[in-house]
Amino acid sequence: MVSTLLKSRILGYEGYDLAHAYGNEKWFGRAKKIEFINRKKIFITTKFNLSDKNIDLRKELEGSLERLGTNYVDLYLMHWPYPNNYIDAWKQMENLYKEGKARAIGVCNFQIRHLEELLKHCDVIPMVNQIEIHPLNTEKEVIQYCKEKSIQVQAYCPLGLMQDKIVKNDILNRLAVKYNKSIPQIILKWNIQNEIIPLPKSTKYKRLKQNIDIFDFELEKKEIQEIDSLNENYKIYIPEKYCKGY
Ligand SMILES: NC(=O)c1ccc[n+]([C@@H]2O[C@H](COP(=O)([O-])OP(=O)(O)OC[C@H]3O[C@@H](n4cnc5c(N)ncnc54)[C@H](OP(=O)(O)O)[C@@H]3O)[C@@H](O)[C@H]2O)c1
Repeated sequence: MVSTLLKSRILGYEGYDLAHAYGNEKWFGRAKKIEFINRKKIFITTKFNLSDKNIDLRKELEGSLERLGTNYVDLYLMHWPYPNNYIDAWKQMENLYKEGKARAIGVCNFQIRHLEELLKHCDVIPMVNQIEIHPLNTEKEVIQYCKEKSIQVQAYCPLGLMQDKIVKNDILNRLAVKYNKSIPQIILKWNIQNEIIPLPKSTKYKRLKQNIDIFDFELEKKEIQEIDSLNENYKIYIPEKYCKGY
């Protein structure tokens, strides 16, 4: 049976967003091996979870590399900013970066306050901040801050899990009709035109194909602003549920 990895490669996908906590590193490593995926042609991101306890990140990353069947990751991310130990974890990440085991390092779910604190202590500025962004949660201030510091923003949950509030939205539906595209395609294009890298997830070939077919149209500036204006700070992943003391 052909895996989602191979199907997505055929369609032209290069980047894969994984995490120890998602339990998908092993599956990915196995599919990569069986299907002779060329390591140099793909960009592997994985993440580690902090908790209240200190963590030995060298050991943690070694585990990920073993499961993935590779000797480096392209991007290593801290999943949540646990207040008591995210600075210490970042120091460990810097060492892994300097050794080349992680070709780039970054963070997820960092608000401006977390980034400001980190920047006071770091030698290496995070290259990426991966946060929840969709039309109902646009995170304009964090994005602006990241732009000023040259931190690339990635949008997780970019389709807002296709919840009803997204699917039934008038503005998104109007733009979908105008461009003869689906709502996911409109949202993903809105991200790209805002210089954000979206990370949509799908298990279905038809949708994978649709989600990458967004490079033959451009939204107008006022349409981008219309989507921006849908913001209501509506979060699907509630930070306090995942990160004590957030
Ligand atoms: N850093 C973090 O803390 C964090 C947290 C959450 C997620 N993430 C990352 O972000 C990725 C995406 O997030 P997500 O899965 O929560 O949300 P999402 O990408 O917004 O939504 C995925 C859902 O949308 C459906 N879908 C995808 N394309 C579609 C299309 N063209 N038409 C209709 N439905 C479509 C999928 O269903 P089907 O599979 O049935 O197509 C799936 O149910 C994850 O895979 C993960 O890598 C990171």
